Amino acid sequence: MAARTVAVVLAGGIGERMGAGRPKQLIEVGGRPILAHAIAAFDAHPEVGEVLVVMAAGHLREAGVIAAPFRSVTGVVEGGATRTASTVAALRALEGHPDDTRVLFHDAARPFVDAPVIDRVLDALDGHDAVAVGVPSPDTIVVVEDGVVASMPPRETMSRFQTPQGFRLGTIRKAYELALADPALRATDDCGIVHRYLPDVPIRVVAGSERNLKVTQPLDAVVAEHLARRDLP
Ligand code: CTP
Ligand code: MG
Repeated sequence: MAARTVAVVLAGGIGERMGAGRPKQLIEVGGRPILAHAIAAFDAHPEVGEVLVVMAAGHLREAGVIAAPFRSVTGVVEGGATRTASTVAALRALEGHPDDTRVLFHDAARPFVDAPVIDRVLDALDGHDAVAVGVPSPDTIVVVEDGVVASMPPRETMSRFQTPQGFRLGTIRKAYELALADPALRATDDCGIVHRYLPDVPIRVVAGSERNLKVTQPLDAVVAEHLARRDLP
């Protein structure tokens, strides 16, 4: 039997940069909450058998109402103060799942993740234990230290990470076990945790899409509203 696949929709943040007075994943675009768009993409995917929602404390009831219509949602759990803590809350909720389970961690703030992106992550998980989604950067990215350019990595080697990030559950469990034992742990994304604590595990990068933007600040909500209403590439 094929390993089961769980999508974790991380909605534990409070959206400080958006400044909407409530978590940005509760804002509606195209007539439904951003969180609902994100859940729907995984709920509709034939290979995803289960969706777990991690919600900011104080908003569990709202998340429960949004998640209720989706058949694959098996739980809404409370997140932590950082994204890392929210991922850890999800890993606890998945304690009973076998190590070969495929787990996809997705930012709830990315409402337009689509099936082709999810397919690419799942396909890559056949040969890799950790998979990231990246898009090329249209801008040159430089390393700035003390206000001065310290280095200029070649633009073609640069990638902006999106989500979902996919893992074999056993791999991400192990990485977090090591991370949580490290008093110097700094907040980073899940691939960052694997890269730092399991440096021998290659992280395969597959193509994301420009539509899969993260709603982060007010301008993004305007763009998202347009994207929700039109079928742009
Ligand atoms: N996230 C989370 N738990 C946290 C912080 C973030 O699950 N403690 C989630 C967010 O809900 C979001 C994703 O991680 O879906 C990416 O984070 P980000 O865009 O930074 O969202 P917020 O932390 O909510 O925004 P801000 O940093 O502006 O406060
Ligand atoms: Mg944040």
